[in-house]
Amino acid sequence: MEDIFKNNKTYYGFQDREIEDEVLKDLYEMIKNNATSFNCQPLRILFIKSKEAKARLEPFVLDTNKEKTLKAPVTAILAMDLSFYEDLSKNFPAMDVSFLFKDNLDFTYQTAFRNSSLQGGYFMKAAHALGLGTGPMSGFDNNGLDEEFFKNKNWKSNFLCNLGYGDEDQTRPRAPRYEFDEIVEIL
Ligand SMILES: Cc1cc2nc3c(=O)[nH]c(=O)nc-3n(C[C@H](O)[C@H](O)[C@H](O)COP(=O)(O)O)c2cc1C
Repeated sequence: MEDIFKNNKTYYGFQDREIEDEVLKDLYEMIKNNATSFNCQPLRILFIKSKEAKARLEPFVLDTNKEKTLKAPVTAILAMDLSFYEDLSKNFPAMDVSFLFKDNLDFTYQTAFRNSSLQGGYFMKAAHALGLGTGPMSGFDNNGLDEEFFKNKNWKSNFLCNLGYGDEDQTRPRAPRYEFDEIVEIL
């Protein structure tokens, strides 16, 4: 377990090995029980696997991210549903809190962004636990991608994540990380 926190790296290329759909289902099973505020679960995931779907994605990916994205066995679009609060009566039965979000786009956006980003972190660590390598990317045209894939939905893309069985030759040397005393305080 320590390995996936201390020794994981970002992968810029993957082995020539498919990810079975069952593995993608296992991945979701591993992330779904993790915490979000009010159990609001705003994350939505679109797995881009086929050549046709990759061709639809390609125009919106930054040039420097194109090749690795087209070659990755799967690219996940991690998105957030800005209508998440419509399900709160089901997802958070303890009390009705949907009124906090209705007609309050700022709070709705902040909550969706914070919690879908947290869920995105759970997603990457679950992928690592399943033996997959991840290549997260924010270098893409969010609005263009949303128009292409989420036209009739209230979903907004957060980040992309290439997935595959990592090719150790396609990682970069570890860049500096802060030490405990540099960024942590205990009062
Ligand atoms: C949210 C997010 C967005 C990123 N966007 C890009 C990107 O657009 N292109 C890219 O090549 N790498 C991108 N990265 C990769 C980071 O540069 C990389 O994870 C970081 O340098 C740490 O590398 P390491 O895991 O190998 O130590 C992104 C990472 C994250 C978490």
